Amino acid sequence: MDKSTLDNRSQGSLHVAIIMDGNGRWAEARGLPRLAGHQAGAAAVRRTVEAAPGLGIGTLTLYAFSADNWRRPLDEVRGLMDLFLRYLRAEVRRLREHGVRLSAIGRRDRLSLTLQEAIARAESATAAGETLTLRLAIDYSARDAILHAARHTASGEAADREAFRRRLGEAYGEREMSPDVDLLIRAGGERRLSDFLLWESAYAELHFTSRLWPDFEAGDLADAVAEFHGRARRFGALPGRLA
Ligand code: FPP
Repeated sequence: MDKSTLDNRSQGSLHVAIIMDGNGRWAEARGLPRLAGHQAGAAAVRRTVEAAPGLGIGTLTLYAFSADNWRRPLDEVRGLMDLFLRYLRAEVRRLREHGVRLSAIGRRDRLSLTLQEAIARAESATAAGETLTLRLAIDYSARDAILHAARHTASGEAADREAFRRRLGEAYGEREMSPDVDLLIRAGGERRLSDFLLWESAYAELHFTSRLWPDFEAGDLADAVAEFHGRARRFGALPGRLA
């Protein structure tokens, strides 16, 4: 990670969420096993984390493994879990040095104890980071989180959006509430949300790119953010009259 990119910056305000799709196709196009695509995807994660603070991004949520991804072949699931473990172990020092606070969102109880421990260690080692909040969604389902929050909202409890959002955070195991998503990017050419951050993306701007995730560069992120700044966000109000 380039030190000058991250140091001495206050935390930006944008929350960008990314569906990192296209690893398998990237590998297949090269006659490589799918796991090679995921490995190349991990390099794209590093590039993206490095570029984010310079683009005014304060929170970055990456969809690493959905609750439905357990249905993939065992070899691929194992390979992905191993990749997450190696990423956490290899990156934690650099993340801490550069003020990146890492947290995982999603279920933890179905992950191996080794991975659970690596996540907990990375979270506590980077807890003081103030430059960028990096949220890795692992074994994540937005619909399950919403169900969990609904089940844990006691009858009689104030069921306003703020309170419900806090319940959602608890469902993910979040220590702090994150802001709503401003910009949701999906790589890989598909145009769907795939059960990712459904509540928090109510007013997110959507950006779909055909670029396969392993080919995603800092310039692609910069383009998406520039396009975002060109959009008129009205949140249902009339232009220039946001209450
Ligand atoms: C979807 O592409 C991608 C995933 C299910 C895994 C995402 C994981 C990474 C980018 C690995 C690195 C992550 C971290 C946090 C180190 P796909 O395999 O479904 O692609 P396809 O549609 O081309 O088959």
